[in-house]
Amino acid sequence: MINIIDGKKIAKKIRENIKEKALLLRQKSIIPTICVIIVGDNKASRSYVNSKHKACMQNEINSIIREFEENIKGEILLEEIDKLNNDKNIHGILVQLPLPKHINAMKVLEKISPEKDVDGFNPINVGKLNLGIATLIPCTPLGIIKLIESTKEDIEGKNALVIGRSNIVGKPVASLLLNKNATVTIAHSKTTNLKELVAEADIIVSCVGKAHFLTTDYVYKNNATIIDVGNNYKDGKLVGDVDFLNVKEKVKYISPVPGGVGPMTITMLMHNTLLACEDQINL
Ligand code: GUN
Repeated sequence: MINIIDGKKIAKKIRENIKEKALLLRQKSIIPTICVIIVGDNKASRSYVNSKHKACMQNEINSIIREFEENIKGEILLEEIDKLNNDKNIHGILVQLPLPKHINAMKVLEKISPEKDVDGFNPINVGKLNLGIATLIPCTPLGIIKLIESTKEDIEGKNALVIGRSNIVGKPVASLLLNKNATVTIAHSKTTNLKELVAEADIIVSCVGKAHFLTTDYVYKNNATIIDVGNNYKDGKLVGDVDFLNVKEKVKYISPVPGGVGPMTITMLMHNTLLACEDQINL
């Protein structure tokens, strides 16, 4: 039996819970607030930032957008982040990536106070995640785990295959799966035996970034769960890494694109902002 993992429905439920908690905080005059920084005029970044802003505002999370010119000096950006770090009314800080080439993105991420790092990209939070210490976790990986957990299948002891090794998705999702006692393999562009790995996998997280990369040319376990993180365009249409219509017949659970991981990412950003807020006011 195929089960489509409905990210939209799962995200909606979590958002209702977030809104309720945010309203309770507001009744105590605490307004959970995120500040999103955008540098330059990257169209895709602007669209992501606007979506984040809209979702936050709809769910009682206050969102402030700070825009800076493309040619802003790195040191000025660091000073601005420092001001936000010291502002008690700001609980979460997110710097939209990519940054212009003249700015050292790692220095910027390091500057964000780990307690306010709602993206979970500060190396201190990355280290904590790898050590299995509770911390703010990157939004897309956290959303992926929630989708896998929604199947109610065990993660412990399962073969989990992560295809893609980015700092934003592949590596953190692999850490999260490992922390949940899966046997984790990370495959990437230099992997030579992907077909064998796919055939052995109980859980597959695909973050390759190639439209319909996973086809029925691969053999899947019939009780496998596939989470498709792809965000690709094919013939003007948003599609995932997985040839959904054909592969869905071969596995037990699969998340679609759109309507799978996408709605979870912004939801987890709000979740992290609320967590950061509660932590900072010592709830
Ligand atoms: N650019 C693309 N994805 C992301 C993300 O998850 N966080 C930030 N800050 N920038 C991004």
